[in-house]
Amino acid sequence: MKEVAELIKNGAVVAFCGAGLSAESGIPTFRGKAGLWEKYDPNLYVTASGIQSLFLNQPAKLKNFIVECYELMLDAKPNEAHLALSELERKGYITGIITQNIDDFHFQAGSKNVAQVHGNAYTLECPSCGFSIKKEKAQWRALINKLKDTDSDKKIIATMLKFLGKCRMCNHRLESGIVLFEQSLPAAEVQKSYAYLDKAKVVLCIGTSGVVYPAASFPLYAKEKGAAIVTVNPQWSSLEAVSDFICRKSAVDFFKNLLLNL
Ligand code: APR
Repeated sequence: MKEVAELIKNGAVVAFCGAGLSAESGIPTFRGKAGLWEKYDPNLYVTASGIQSLFLNQPAKLKNFIVECYELMLDAKPNEAHLALSELERKGYITGIITQNIDDFHFQAGSKNVAQVHGNAYTLECPSCGFSIKKEKAQWRALINKLKDTDSDKKIIATMLKFLGKCRMCNHRLESGIVLFEQSLPAAEVQKSYAYLDKAKVVLCIGTSGVVYPAASFPLYAKEKGAAIVTVNPQWSSLEAVSDFICRKSAVDFFKNLLLNL
Protein backbone atom coordinates (compact mmCIF):
# COMPACT_ATOMS: atom_id res chain seq x y z
CA MET A 1 0.00 0.00 0.00
CA LYS A 2 2.90 2.36 0.70
CA GLU A 3 4.07 2.08 -2.92
CA VAL A 4 0.54 2.81 -4.20
CA ALA A 5 0.27 5.79 -1.83
CA GLU A 6 3.57 7.15 -3.16
CA LEU A 7 2.25 6.78 -6.72
CA ILE A 8 -0.97 8.60 -5.87
CA LYS A 9 0.91 11.38 -4.03
CA ASN A 10 2.46 12.28 -7.42
CA GLY A 11 -1.06 13.10 -8.68
CA ALA A 12 -2.46 12.76 -12.23
CA VAL A 13 -4.57 9.83 -11.02
CA VAL A 14 -7.65 8.73 -12.98
CA ALA A 15 -10.14 6.38 -11.31
CA PHE A 16 -11.89 3.80 -13.51
CA CYS A 17 -14.88 2.54 -11.53
CA GLY A 18 -17.29 -0.39 -11.71
CA ALA A 19 -20.23 -1.82 -9.76
CA GLY A 20 -17.95 -3.11 -6.98
CA LEU A 21 -17.40 0.47 -5.86
CA SER A 22 -21.11 0.69 -4.92
CA ALA A 23 -21.28 -2.83 -3.43
CA GLU A 24 -20.61 -1.46 0.07
CA SER A 25 -23.55 0.91 -0.40
CA GLY A 26 -25.76 -2.16 -0.70
CA ILE A 27 -26.08 -2.17 -4.49
CA PRO A 28 -25.52 -5.67 -5.94
CA THR A 29 -22.88 -6.06 -8.64
CA PHE A 30 -23.86 -7.48 -12.02
CA ARG A 31 -21.64 -10.57 -12.13
CA GLY A 32 -20.49 -13.05 -9.52
CA LYS A 33 -22.54 -14.64 -6.75
CA ALA A 34 -25.85 -12.84 -6.08
CA GLY A 35 -25.09 -10.64 -9.09
CA LEU A 36 -28.05 -8.91 -10.79
CA TRP A 37 -27.48 -10.90 -13.98
CA GLU A 38 -28.01 -14.13 -12.01
CA LYS A 39 -31.63 -13.02 -11.58
CA TYR A 40 -32.26 -10.98 -14.74
CA ASP A 41 -31.05 -11.96 -18.22
CA PRO A 42 -29.10 -8.91 -19.48
CA ASN A 43 -29.94 -9.84 -23.06
CA LEU A 44 -33.56 -9.19 -22.19
CA TYR A 45 -33.35 -6.42 -19.60
CA VAL A 46 -30.55 -4.22 -20.92
CA THR A 47 -30.80 -4.42 -24.69
CA ALA A 48 -33.09 -2.14 -26.72
CA SER A 49 -34.75 -5.11 -28.45
CA GLY A 50 -35.21 -6.97 -25.15
CA ILE A 51 -36.73 -4.00 -23.34
CA GLN A 52 -39.08 -3.30 -26.24
CA SER A 53 -40.27 -6.89 -26.24
CA LEU A 54 -40.81 -6.85 -22.45
CA PHE A 55 -42.54 -3.46 -22.66
CA LEU A 56 -45.02 -4.70 -25.25
CA ASN A 57 -45.49 -8.32 -24.17
CA GLN A 58 -44.54 -8.64 -20.45
CA PRO A 59 -44.63 -5.14 -18.94
CA ALA A 60 -45.04 -6.55 -15.42
CA LYS A 61 -41.61 -8.26 -15.68
CA LEU A 62 -40.00 -5.00 -16.82
CA LYS A 63 -41.80 -3.16 -14.02
CA ASN A 64 -40.42 -5.61 -11.39
CA PHE A 65 -36.87 -5.11 -12.71
CA ILE A 66 -37.19 -1.31 -12.71
CA VAL A 67 -38.80 -1.23 -9.23
CA GLU A 68 -36.09 -3.52 -7.74
CA CYS A 69 -33.15 -1.61 -9.29
CA TYR A 70 -34.41 1.89 -8.54
CA GLU A 71 -35.51 1.08 -4.97
CA LEU A 72 -31.98 -0.25 -4.27
CA MET A 73 -30.41 2.97 -5.64
CA LEU A 74 -32.94 5.37 -4.09
CA ASP A 75 -32.59 3.74 -0.64
CA ALA A 76 -28.76 3.70 -0.79
CA LYS A 77 -26.12 6.40 -0.52
CA PRO A 78 -22.47 6.91 -1.46
CA ASN A 79 -20.06 4.95 0.76
CA GLU A 80 -16.67 5.92 2.22
CA ALA A 81 -14.95 4.94 -1.04
CA HIS A 82 -17.03 7.45 -3.05
CA LEU A 83 -16.30 10.09 -0.40
CA ALA A 84 -12.58 9.28 -0.49
CA LEU A 85 -12.54 9.69 -4.29
CA SER A 86 -14.20 13.09 -3.90
CA GLU A 87 -11.68 14.13 -1.19
CA LEU A 88 -8.72 12.99 -3.34
CA GLU A 89 -10.10 15.08 -6.22
CA ARG A 90 -10.46 18.10 -3.91
CA LYS A 91 -6.83 17.63 -2.79
CA GLY A 92 -5.72 17.50 -6.44
CA TYR A 93 -4.53 13.87 -6.54
CA ILE A 94 -7.40 12.67 -8.74
CA THR A 95 -7.90 14.54 -12.01
CA GLY A 96 -10.88 12.56 -13.31
CA ILE A 97 -13.24 9.66 -12.68
CA ILE A 98 -14.44 7.38 -15.48
CA THR A 99 -17.39 5.47 -14.13
CA GLN A 100 -19.38 2.58 -15.56
CA ASN A 101 -21.88 3.08 -12.74
CA ILE A 102 -25.24 4.77 -13.33
CA ASP A 103 -26.14 5.37 -9.65
CA ASP A 104 -25.08 9.05 -9.55
CA PHE A 105 -23.12 8.37 -6.33
CA HIS A 106 -19.95 10.16 -7.50
CA PHE A 107 -21.86 13.44 -7.85
CA GLN A 108 -23.74 12.85 -4.58
CA ALA A 109 -20.33 12.34 -2.90
CA GLY A 110 -19.12 15.69 -4.29
CA SER A 111 -16.90 14.58 -7.20
CA LYS A 112 -16.94 17.05 -10.09
CA ASN A 113 -14.81 15.64 -12.94
CA VAL A 114 -16.78 12.51 -13.81
CA ALA A 115 -17.31 10.78 -17.17
CA GLN A 116 -20.40 8.57 -16.96
CA VAL A 117 -19.67 6.22 -19.85
CA HIS A 118 -22.77 4.05 -19.24
CA GLY A 119 -25.09 6.98 -18.57
CA ASN A 120 -27.02 7.98 -15.46
CA ALA A 121 -30.13 6.24 -14.11
CA TYR A 122 -31.81 9.57 -13.26
CA THR A 123 -31.58 11.18 -16.71
CA LEU A 124 -33.94 10.93 -19.65
CA GLU A 125 -32.68 11.55 -23.19
CA CYS A 126 -34.15 12.35 -26.57
CA PRO A 127 -32.95 9.76 -29.13
CA SER A 128 -33.71 12.23 -31.89
CA CYS A 129 -32.09 15.57 -30.89
CA GLY A 130 -29.92 14.55 -27.90
CA PHE A 131 -31.78 16.73 -25.38
CA SER A 132 -31.28 15.38 -21.87
CA ILE A 133 -32.96 16.09 -18.53
CA LYS A 134 -32.10 14.82 -15.04
CA LYS A 135 -35.24 14.09 -13.00
CA GLU A 136 -35.14 14.57 -9.23
CA LYS A 137 -34.82 11.44 -7.04
CA ALA A 138 -38.23 12.37 -5.58
CA GLN A 139 -39.78 12.14 -9.06
CA TRP A 140 -38.25 8.69 -9.57
CA ARG A 141 -39.44 7.63 -6.10
CA ALA A 142 -42.98 8.74 -7.03
CA LEU A 143 -42.80 6.70 -10.27
CA ILE A 144 -41.59 3.60 -8.41
CA ASN A 145 -44.37 3.93 -5.81
CA LYS A 146 -46.97 4.31 -8.58
CA LEU A 147 -45.61 1.26 -10.44
CA LYS A 148 -45.65 -0.81 -7.22
CA ASP A 149 -49.39 -0.08 -6.91
CA THR A 150 -50.09 -0.91 -10.57
CA ASP A 151 -50.83 -4.45 -11.71
CA SER A 152 -52.64 -4.10 -15.03
CA ASP A 153 -50.35 -4.25 -18.06
CA LYS A 154 -52.21 -1.36 -19.65
CA LYS A 155 -51.75 0.87 -16.60
CA ILE A 156 -48.05 -0.08 -16.25
CA ILE A 157 -47.41 0.96 -19.85
CA ALA A 158 -49.42 4.17 -19.45
CA THR A 159 -47.56 5.07 -16.23
CA MET A 160 -44.15 4.52 -17.84
CA LEU A 161 -45.01 6.47 -21.00
CA LYS A 162 -46.44 9.38 -18.95
CA PHE A 163 -43.25 9.55 -16.86
CA LEU A 164 -40.97 9.47 -19.92
CA GLY A 165 -42.94 12.26 -21.62
CA LYS A 166 -41.90 14.13 -24.75
CA CYS A 167 -38.81 16.12 -25.65
CA ARG A 168 -39.44 19.83 -25.12
CA MET A 169 -37.17 20.60 -28.11
CA CYS A 170 -38.52 18.27 -30.81
CA ASN A 171 -41.48 16.51 -29.20
CA HIS A 172 -39.93 13.01 -29.70
CA ARG A 173 -40.65 10.54 -26.88
CA LEU A 174 -37.85 10.57 -24.28
CA GLU A 175 -35.96 7.40 -23.30
CA SER A 176 -33.84 6.30 -20.31
CA GLY A 177 -30.37 7.90 -20.14
CA ILE A 178 -28.84 4.49 -19.35
CA VAL A 179 -26.55 3.12 -22.10
CA LEU A 180 -27.83 -0.32 -23.10
CA PHE A 181 -25.76 -3.18 -24.50
CA GLU A 182 -25.18 -2.74 -28.26
CA GLN A 183 -25.55 1.07 -27.87
CA SER A 184 -22.53 3.31 -28.40
CA LEU A 185 -21.11 5.20 -25.42
CA PRO A 186 -22.07 8.89 -25.18
CA ALA A 187 -19.53 10.76 -27.34
CA ALA A 188 -19.08 13.61 -24.86
CA GLU A 189 -18.34 11.13 -22.02
CA VAL A 190 -15.85 9.21 -24.16
CA GLN A 191 -14.12 12.47 -25.11
CA LYS A 192 -13.87 13.42 -21.41
CA SER A 193 -12.50 9.96 -20.62
CA TYR A 194 -9.68 10.20 -23.17
CA ALA A 195 -8.89 13.73 -22.01
CA TYR A 196 -8.41 12.36 -18.48
CA LEU A 197 -6.44 9.31 -19.68
CA ASP A 198 -4.09 11.32 -21.93
CA LYS A 199 -2.72 13.06 -18.85
CA ALA A 200 -2.91 10.10 -16.44
CA LYS A 201 0.18 8.81 -14.65
CA VAL A 202 -1.90 6.29 -12.68
CA VAL A 203 -5.22 4.56 -13.42
CA LEU A 204 -6.92 3.23 -10.29
CA CYS A 205 -9.33 0.45 -11.43
CA ILE A 206 -11.85 0.01 -8.64
CA GLY A 207 -14.53 -2.68 -8.43
CA THR A 208 -14.77 -3.72 -12.05
CA SER A 209 -14.58 -7.14 -13.68
CA GLY A 210 -13.12 -5.39 -16.74
CA VAL A 211 -15.10 -7.56 -19.16
CA VAL A 212 -17.36 -5.01 -20.85
CA TYR A 213 -15.90 -3.19 -23.83
CA PRO A 214 -15.28 -0.54 -25.01
CA ALA A 215 -15.14 0.79 -21.40
CA ALA A 216 -12.72 -1.96 -20.31
CA SER A 217 -10.23 -0.76 -22.93
CA PHE A 218 -9.63 2.56 -21.09
CA PRO A 219 -6.99 1.21 -18.65
CA LEU A 220 -5.17 -0.53 -21.51
CA TYR A 221 -5.11 2.75 -23.48
CA ALA A 222 -3.52 4.56 -20.53
CA LYS A 223 -1.02 1.75 -19.92
CA GLU A 224 0.17 1.99 -23.52
CA LYS A 225 0.87 5.66 -22.85
CA GLY A 226 2.98 4.81 -19.81
CA ALA A 227 0.48 5.03 -16.94
CA ALA A 228 0.76 2.65 -13.97
CA ILE A 229 -2.33 0.47 -13.43
CA VAL A 230 -3.62 -0.29 -9.93
CA THR A 231 -6.54 -2.71 -9.48
CA VAL A 232 -8.72 -2.70 -6.33
CA ASN A 233 -10.93 -5.78 -6.14
CA PRO A 234 -11.34 -8.53 -3.49
CA GLN A 235 -11.45 -11.05 -6.37
CA TRP A 236 -9.34 -11.74 -9.44
CA SER A 237 -10.36 -9.67 -12.48
CA SER A 238 -9.11 -9.71 -16.08
CA LEU A 239 -7.54 -6.25 -15.51
CA GLU A 240 -4.97 -7.88 -13.21
CA ALA A 241 -3.18 -9.08 -16.37
CA VAL A 242 -2.19 -5.47 -17.10
CA SER A 243 -1.87 -4.29 -13.50
CA ASP A 244 1.34 -3.00 -11.95
CA PHE A 245 -0.18 -3.16 -8.46
CA ILE A 246 -2.91 -5.59 -7.38
CA CYS A 247 -4.84 -4.70 -4.20
CA ARG A 248 -7.08 -7.64 -3.26
CA LYS A 249 -9.23 -5.49 -1.01
CA SER A 250 -12.72 -4.03 -0.95
CA ALA A 251 -12.97 -0.44 -2.13
CA VAL A 252 -13.72 0.88 1.37
CA ASP A 253 -10.80 -1.05 2.95
CA PHE A 254 -8.46 0.14 0.22
CA PHE A 255 -9.28 3.81 0.73
CA LYS A 256 -9.20 3.51 4.55
CA ASN A 257 -5.60 2.20 4.25
CA LEU A 258 -4.67 4.66 1.50
CA LEU A 259 -5.79 7.75 3.40
CA LEU A 260 -3.64 6.62 6.37
CA ASN A 261 -0.60 6.59 4.06
CA LEU A 262 -1.18 9.85 2.20
N1 APR B 1 -14.94 -3.50 -3.55
C1 APR B 1 -14.30 -3.61 -4.75
N2 APR B 1 -14.68 -4.48 -5.72
C2 APR B 1 -15.74 -5.28 -5.44
C3 APR B 1 -16.44 -5.23 -4.22
C4 APR B 1 -16.00 -4.29 -3.26
N3 APR B 1 -16.63 -4.19 -2.07
N4 APR B 1 -17.46 -6.15 -4.28
C5 APR B 1 -17.36 -6.75 -5.49
N5 APR B 1 -16.33 -6.23 -6.19
C6 APR B 1 -15.89 -6.56 -7.55
C7 APR B 1 -16.24 -7.96 -8.01
O1 APR B 1 -15.23 -8.89 -7.63
C8 APR B 1 -16.28 -7.76 -9.53
O2 APR B 1 -15.01 -8.04 -10.12
O3 APR B 1 -16.58 -5.70 -8.43
C9 APR B 1 -16.61 -6.29 -9.72
C10 APR B 1 -17.99 -6.04 -10.31
O4 APR B 1 -17.99 -6.59 -11.61
P1 APR B 1 -19.33 -6.49 -12.49
O5 APR B 1 -20.49 -6.94 -11.68
O6 APR B 1 -19.02 -7.15 -13.79
O7 APR B 1 -19.53 -4.91 -12.70
P2 APR B 1 -18.79 -3.98 -13.75
O8 APR B 1 -17.37 -4.38 -13.95
O9 APR B 1 -19.05 -2.59 -13.32
O10 APR B 1 -19.63 -4.28 -15.10
C11 APR B 1 -19.38 -3.45 -16.20
O11 APR B 1 -21.32 -4.45 -17.28
O12 APR B 1 -23.45 -5.22 -17.04
C12 APR B 1 -22.69 -4.17 -17.52
O13 APR B 1 -23.34 -1.95 -17.83
C13 APR B 1 -23.03 -2.88 -16.83
O14 APR B 1 -21.55 -1.08 -16.19
C14 APR B 1 -21.74 -2.48 -16.13
C15 APR B 1 -20.68 -3.22 -16.93
